[in-house]
Amino acid sequence: MSNPVPLAEPTNFGEGQYPYALVNVTNVCNLDCRHCFVFRADNPQSPRNKMNDATMLHQLETLRDKHGIRSMLFMGGEPMIRKDMVLKAIKLFPESAVVTNGTYGIPSIPGHLVTVSLDGPADLNDLIRGKGVFAKVKEAVFARDASDGTTVMLQMAVTRENSPGLEKFLEQVAEWPIDGVAFSFYVPVKNDETGLGWKDLKERDKVLERVIALKKKYPHVIKSHTATLEMMKSDRAIEWTGEHGEKCILRRDTLPLYMGDGGQFEKPFCCYGNDVDCTRCGAYAVFNRAYLASQGRGNAPRYGRDGSADAAPIVKDTAE
Ligand SMILES: C[S@@+](CC[C@H](N)C(=O)[O-])C[C@H]1O[C@@H](n2cnc3c(N)ncnc32)[C@H](O)[C@@H]1O
Ligand code: SF4
Ligand code: SF4
Repeated sequence: MSNPVPLAEPTNFGEGQYPYALVNVTNVCNLDCRHCFVFRADNPQSPRNKMNDATMLHQLETLRDKHGIRSMLFMGGEPMIRKDMVLKAIKLFPESAVVTNGTYGIPSIPGHLVTVSLDGPADLNDLIRGKGVFAKVKEAVFARDASDGTTVMLQMAVTRENSPGLEKFLEQVAEWPIDGVAFSFYVPVKNDETGLGWKDLKERDKVLERVIALKKKYPHVIKSHTATLEMMKSDRAIEWTGEHGEKCILRRDTLPLYMGDGGQFEKPFCCYGNDVDCTRCGAYAVFNRAYLASQGRGNAPRYGRDGSADAAPIVKDTAE
């Protein structure tokens, strides 16, 4: 019998230690959301040349050991398009999370986190994510076994366009069998012309205020910390991001693995790809890492009971 072909080794990303990482397991997606940072022109995103399952599992394990990765966020494209591989890869890390559009059902991963993206109430969500998607995701959320030990959160990526629907969204999902709702805010490119971002951060402050008010109304549903939302406001945001990501904890401690040309991983500027505008970054995780660090909880698990991520803050007993 001939020897098996050796598996390709990962690209050399230097010697840095990254307790956290995210991986785009595929660049393929069945949806086409207008705000999506993954499919921006400057990012590695070709759906061709995908890495086969055995190679991806081998490379993730190698990178885990080299860079000390303990938390892995599986995303894409749509990660559930490679469900079998993702379910194997989850076992490689002490802490795993999957962020999914929910249209392929909600995976059962006891002890781990599944974040399901919905971008507002049914009408607004479907304008962004496609007709019928809200109903399909709702059906999947209600169809799962809510006692299987998987933590399931909804996440809304708030933009200037869908922000009018915040209150209605909460009315629609507050009673769903989920562990909570998280919010992240639009991350634009430099000179963003999509109209999805706010004129300036002051305008975004008004939306942050509305989320803070909603948190008072639904304290057990909304998992975002009020203190973190306050840190996102225009008078302070730059302290945690810097002009060019130099203050950003997420950039420092998280290894982003995008699927590049040639079927090898590439590391973009940050989790949100290349050509991002840090001065207007709305990534909740950036500010929540800074908040947790200020509380002496900088080592809190990213995707666990105390975490954040693009994925979600899971704090069942938040006092704020
Ligand atoms: C890129 S998607 C990949 C996983 C999966 N396809 C999904 O939609 O959940 C991961 C998360 O990033 C959010 N997102 C996409 N573009 C964004 C942007 N420009 N700013 C902030 N969040 C964004 C999505 O709404 C989703 O919740
Ligand atoms: S479903 Fe996720 S990956 Fe696909 S386009 Fe929408 S945000 Fe991007
Ligand atoms: S865009 Fe946001 S996440 Fe990326 S480096 Fe800038 S501040 Fe950090």
